[in-house]
Amino acid sequence: MQTISIINYKGGVGKTTISANLAAELAFRGKNVLVIDLDPQASLTFSYFSVDDWRNKYEKTKTIKNWYDAFIDKDADLDLSSLIVRPGRVNSAGLKGKVDAICSHLALINVDLDLATRLVGGSARDLRNNYLRVHSRLRQGLASLDPDLYHFCLIDCPPNFNIVTKNAIVASDYLLVPTKPDYLSTLGIDQLKTHFRELVSTYNGYVKETDDEQWEAISPEILGVLFTMISVRNGAPISAQQQYIQQVRGQVATLDTYIRENKTIYADAPEYGVPVVLKRVSGRTYEDVQDELEELTTELMDKLDGK
Ligand SMILES: Nc1ncnc2c1ncn2[C@@H]1O[C@H](COP(=O)(O)OP(=O)(O)OP(=O)(O)O)[C@@H](O)[C@H]1O
Ligand SMILES: [Mg+2]
Repeated sequence: MQTISIINYKGGVGKTTISANLAAELAFRGKNVLVIDLDPQASLTFSYFSVDDWRNKYEKTKTIKNWYDAFIDKDADLDLSSLIVRPGRVNSAGLKGKVDAICSHLALINVDLDLATRLVGGSARDLRNNYLRVHSRLRQGLASLDPDLYHFCLIDCPPNFNIVTKNAIVASDYLLVPTKPDYLSTLGIDQLKTHFRELVSTYNGYVKETDDEQWEAISPEILGVLFTMISVRNGAPISAQQQYIQQVRGQVATLDTYIRENKTIYADAPEYGVPVVLKRVSGRTYEDVQDELEELTTELMDKLDGK
């Protein structure tokens, strides 16, 4: 299983939209995909399930918050696989593979605070062990899943760099970073890169110091920045956006595929539970949008094959 976090602590750049569409297209091509919604806004969860369904069936016992709560309250290791649910609509859209999900919870926001209190410790040794235990939580949970169950695990991250987000990075093989090509967003990429490097180096530093063999060094990699919300004129991004795209290309790996802005098409997607890429709608504009999402999936798979 390859684990990919869809991450950027800038909000509203298309993380959830990309997670949902990528998962659906991969499954359409025969892959088995697990998506984990780590955002307390729960947008991905509510793109698969109605609020009533979530309340009645999942809120109390089947969300990622329940899993963290078990750890925080009882030091217990709830089986991550017991939280996996299958969204009906997307799986009825002619997939050759499948999409499974672990839902989020609006109170996941409190988990970050509770995990932070777990980090404190008296001795340097306590601090180190607490750091590794807290940050590797999701990594250990994913390692406990049957390795043949899924080809991909996609983690939709919240727009912050709190402990739950760090859990996603520690658990990941790769990061995919959706970004708008504008001034503030491109500044954010540099910060994300720095914080990402600091996290990996602190984690691996602690691993090196300990002689406890349960901990291993991590090496997540930035697969690339994916430009989203692109305004296309004459078949290419407008020049104001080109400028920022070029700037980022000099700093970090980027994907060739970009995702154009189309408020109408993307806005009504979640209502139907089936993401844009799998909808059966004809028309040039719709096809252009779907083609990009398919190209993105192909580019990612090629990149991963080349690793
Ligand atoms: N390519 C696009 N063109 C136009 N609108 C888009 C596009 N992608 C996403 N959107 C819309 O923009 C909004 C934000 O998208 P999305 O929720 O995917 O971003 P996000 O990065 O996950 O946000 P957050 O940081 O809040 O989790 C949504 O209303 C979504 O429908
Ligand atoms: Mg989101």
